[in-house]
Amino acid sequence: MKQSTVLSFPVLFGLANAECDPNTIQAALPKGASVNFAYSLAANSTFEVPKSSTGYPTNAFNLPALCAVSVQVQSIANSTYGFGLFLPNDWNGRFLAVGNGGFAGGVDYVAMGAGVRYGFAAMSTDTGHNSSSVDGSWAYQHPERVENWGHLAMHGSTVVAKSITAAHYSRNITYSYYSGCSTGGRQGLKEAERYPEDFDGIVAGAPAWWTSHMQPWTARVALYNLPTTAEYHISAAQFDNVNTEVLKQCDPQDGLVDNIISDPKGCNFRAETLLCGSNATSNDTRCLKGPQLNTLYNIYNDYVAENNTIIFPTFYLGSEGQPALLTGNVPNPLGSDYIKYFLGLGPKWNVNDYNDELVALSDAISPGDATVRFDLSGYHNRGGKILSYHGMIDPLIPTSSTPFFYNRMLRTLAPKGIDADSFFRFFLVPGMGHCSGTQPKMNAPWYFAGPSQPSALGRSVYSVPGFENKEHDLLMAMMAWVEDGKAPDYLIGTKYVNDTTHTEVLRQRPLCMYPKQAKYNGAGNANAASSWECKDLY
Ligand SMILES: *[C@@H]1O[C@H](CO)[C@@H](O)[C@H](O)[C@H]1NC(C)=O
Ligand SMILES: *[C@@H]1O[C@H](CO)[C@@H](O)[C@H](O)[C@H]1NC(C)=O
Ligand SMILES: *[C@@H]1O[C@H](CO)[C@@H](O)[C@H](O)[C@H]1NC(C)=O
Ligand SMILES: *[C@@H]1O[C@H](CO)[C@@H](O)[C@H](O)[C@H]1NC(C)=O
Ligand SMILES: *[C@@H]1O[C@H](CO)[C@@H](O)[C@H](O)[C@H]1NC(C)=O
Ligand SMILES: *[C@@H]1O[C@H](CO)[C@@H](O)[C@H](O)[C@H]1NC(C)=O
Ligand SMILES: *[C@@H]1O[C@H](CO)[C@@H](O)[C@H](O)[C@H]1NC(C)=O
Ligand SMILES: *[C@@H]1O[C@H](CO)[C@@H](O)[C@H](O)[C@H]1NC(C)=O
Repeated sequence: MKQSTVLSFPVLFGLANAECDPNTIQAALPKGASVNFAYSLAANSTFEVPKSSTGYPTNAFNLPALCAVSVQVQSIANSTYGFGLFLPNDWNGRFLAVGNGGFAGGVDYVAMGAGVRYGFAAMSTDTGHNSSSVDGSWAYQHPERVENWGHLAMHGSTVVAKSITAAHYSRNITYSYYSGCSTGGRQGLKEAERYPEDFDGIVAGAPAWWTSHMQPWTARVALYNLPTTAEYHISAAQFDNVNTEVLKQCDPQDGLVDNIISDPKGCNFRAETLLCGSNATSNDTRCLKGPQLNTLYNIYNDYVAENNTIIFPTFYLGSEGQPALLTGNVPNPLGSDYIKYFLGLGPKWNVNDYNDELVALSDAISPGDATVRFDLSGYHNRGGKILSYHGMIDPLIPTSSTPFFYNRMLRTLAPKGIDADSFFRFFLVPGMGHCSGTQPKMNAPWYFAGPSQPSALGRSVYSVPGFENKEHDLLMAMMAWVEDGKAPDYLIGTKYVNDTTHTEVLRQRPLCMYPKQAKYNGAGNANAASSWECKDLY
C-alpha cells in the first residue's frame, strides 16, 4: 500500500507513538463535544462500521496504521452531529474532510480510507442524522436537523476535527482540504461561501448546489414522463434507442466517432428522426410517437418560470442512456421527500399535486440554507482554490447546473474585479455519469481519483494506479495549485481495460477546463491523451 507518497510533497510529520484513547482525545475537545470511541488500528486493518449506521454501512478495508476516532458535538435546539476521524501514524501534515451524498446521514469511513492512503488526517461528518441517501423523513418538523445537514455539521465537525488533529500530532496542520461529490460538492461550495477559512483547497464534484430548485425539479422532470400508461410516456427501452440516435447525431462533432460525446452543445439534435411511421406497432420500442417527442422536448429544455426565468437547468444530450430519474412509476424520493419533509407538506402529500408554486415556497423557506450563493469572493480573497467537475451524462444532477453556477459566479465576481480562473476551475467529463463510472458502450475515461471514485475500482485503491501524479489525480492537482501555485489547465482521465484489476489502460484523454473542449488531432492514437487538444470553441 502506498501511503504518504504524494510525490512532490514528501513531508512527513507522523508521530507513531501519539496517544490514541478516549481520555486523550477528550482532552483536546471544546465544551459540548464528547468522544464516542478512539482506538488504534494496525496496518492493513479493517474498520468495522458501527451497526446502526444506515448512511454508509460499508467497512473500510486495508487501512494504514491509524487512530480511529468518533466524536459527538452539541448543535442547535438540542440536536447533535457526529464525525469520524482517521489519524494515520504516517501523517503528511495535512487535513482532509470528505463529503456526503443525497440526504444520507452517516460517516463515510470508506471515503476517509481513500484519504488516509495519501497520509491525510481524514474526517467525515454524519451531517446530524442517520439515514440512507434517498430518505428525507428525518427532516420533517426538524428544521434544526436540516440546518445541520445544510452547513452546520460540516463546518463544526471540521473545526473540532482540526483541533483534535493538531493536538494528536502536537503540530499545526500545514494545509486543509475538502473533497466531495454531489451533496458533497454542494457542501464544498457552501464551505467556500459561508466558512472561507476552513479549507485552503476544495474539490467540489457535480455539486447539488441549488437545493431549493433542484429538488422540486427532480419531481417535476419525472412527472413529464408519468404515468407510465400515458401515450407520452417513454419506456426504458425507448430511451435506449433515443440514446443510440443521440450518439449518431452528436458524437462526431469532437472529431472522432467513438460513442463519447464531448460537444453536446454543438449538436443540433433532431428528435423527429425517431418518429414512428405507419408500420409501427402500438407501443413500438424502436421509434417515438408525437406526444413522446413532447416529453423529450420537456426533458431536454430547462425548467422555466412563466416569466421565462430559469428555475432549473436540465440534462445534457447523452444523459438519456441511463435515465435514472425518468423511469419507474413514481418520482425519485430526492424530489418527493424534499417536498414532503423539507418543505413541511407531510407524508400524505401526493406527488401528482405538484405545482410550480412549490418552488416559491422552497425559495421562501430555503431549508437549512443549503443552497449555495454565487458570491465566493470571501474565499477568493483568503487565497482559497476550488476545483470542480461534472460528468457529461450525469442522469441525477443535470450537467448544465454546474456551467450555470460558474457563469452566474462570473457575473457576480467580474464587477468586483475578480478573475475566476485565479481560484475556481472546472472540468466537464465526457461520458461520465454521476460522480463516477461510464456506460459500457462508451468506456469513457472517467477515472481521476475524485471523491468516491477509488472505491469504485477496489477497496484498497490509492490515487490513480500507475499514474500517481498531479496530471492524473485531482486531489494531487489541488495540492499542487494550493502549495506550489501550479494551476491545472486540464486533467487527464483514465479508463482501465478492467476497472477491477486496473492494470492495463484502455484510453486516456484530457478533461478540459471549461469552456474549452477536447478535440482529436485527427492522426494520432485516439486512446492516447497526447492526440487530443483542449480548444476554445466559442
Ligand atoms: C492485508 O489484508 C488482506 C485481508 O484483508 C490480506 O489478504 C493481505 O495479505 C494483507 N496484506 C498485507 C501486506 O498484510
Ligand atoms: C432539550 O432536551 C431536554 C431533555 O430531553 C428537554 O428537557 C428540553 O426541553 C429540550 N430543549 C429544547 C430547546 O428542545
Ligand atoms: C446515529 O447512529 C450512531 C450509531 O448508533 C449514533 O452514535 C449516533 O448518535 C446517531 N446519530 C444521531 C444523530 O442520531
Ligand atoms: C501553531 O501556530 C500558532 C500560530 O501561528 C503558533 O502560535 C503555535 O506555536 C503553533 N503551534 C505549534 C505546535 O507549532
Ligand atoms: C412497411 O412494411 C411494408 C411491408 O413489410 C414495407 O414494404 C414498407 O417498406 C414499410 N414501410 C415503411 C415506411 O417502413
Ligand atoms: C404495450 O405495452 C403494454 C404495457 O407495457 C404491454 O402490456 C403490451 O403487451 C404492449 N403491447 C405490445 C403490442 O407490445
Ligand atoms: C420570475 O418568476 C419567478 C417564479 O415565479 C420568480 O421567482 C422571479 O423572481 C421572477 N423573476 C423576475 C425577473 O420577475
Ligand atoms: C475484471 O477482472 C475481474 C478480476 O479478475 C474479473 O472477475 C472480471 O470478470 C473482469 N471483468 C471484465 C469485464 O472482464
